[in-house]
Amino acid sequence: MSKSLKKQSTEAEELEKSYQLPEIVRQRQHTLNKLSAKRGEQILDVGCGVGFLSYEIALQTGDSGRVSGIDQNSEMIRHANNRCESLRNTEFSEANAEDLPFPEESFDAACCTQVLLYVNDVAQVLTGIRRVLKPAGRIIIVETDWRGVVLNSDYDSITRKIFSAWDAAVPSPNLPVRLGPLLVDNGFCNVDVEPIPILNTEYTPSQFSHGMMNWITRNALKKGVITKEQSQKWLDDLDEKGKSGNYFFCVNRFLFSAQLA
Ligand SMILES: C[S@@+](CC[C@H](N)C(=O)[O-])C[C@H]1O[C@@H](n2cnc3c(N)ncnc32)[C@H](O)[C@@H]1O
Repeated sequence: MSKSLKKQSTEAEELEKSYQLPEIVRQRQHTLNKLSAKRGEQILDVGCGVGFLSYEIALQTGDSGRVSGIDQNSEMIRHANNRCESLRNTEFSEANAEDLPFPEESFDAACCTQVLLYVNDVAQVLTGIRRVLKPAGRIIIVETDWRGVVLNSDYDSITRKIFSAWDAAVPSPNLPVRLGPLLVDNGFCNVDVEPIPILNTEYTPSQFSHGMMNWITRNALKKGVITKEQSQKWLDDLDEKGKSGNYFFCVNRFLFSAQLA
């Protein structure tokens, strides 16, 4: 297996695990409620990952509707196809969110959850989504404000280094603060936004932040901004806080909804 395929495969397997955690299941339910897909609708899932959301939407649209998912990672597409094997109204393809491979006015609604932070040109994605939506089509976006994390740690300086490295690793770590105006600039109206807090007061692998803290620590280590000893000290401190009932992590996700003007 090539190095890049191995990386894609690892990312898909990590997503399989982390997106089944209760906080993310709740977030998905919130997203589904807001999307409110109807039978017969054609829905686009941009950056569909391993297909958790696409699967749920496809149950709502029924066989008279259709869910089309795209992702730039071929392993995500493989997982999404496996997940939706029993359904007849889903299709998944490898594509870039900045260059959507669909004709104009193909969809009643589009979702894009936890994807835009990784994208270089967010406006281009929004323009593409506008092009493929039918008149008055709906858009649902979920994004995280990674600059607003609240965390109890004894090591503020290491915390700052770890979060700065994560901030630099993605093009838009705090997109929510400017997404509303961006939607309007790109032809959407009736913009609504709701916070979805992720609060963890325990530190175990079944909490979202456990995996996330390990992930961003590995990122900081790889970027060379902390040493292995600092990484271990920081994670041990979180572990100790978990055991003594002092762990506290909170970050806000934001659910945006809008429609074509
Ligand atoms: C955190 S996952 C979210 C997956 C899914 N939307 C969900 O909420 O379950 C981010 C996904 O965005 C995909 N992605 C990132 N940048 C992309 C791009 N430019 N085009 C297509 N997919 C992209 C990644 O491959 C990954 O599957």
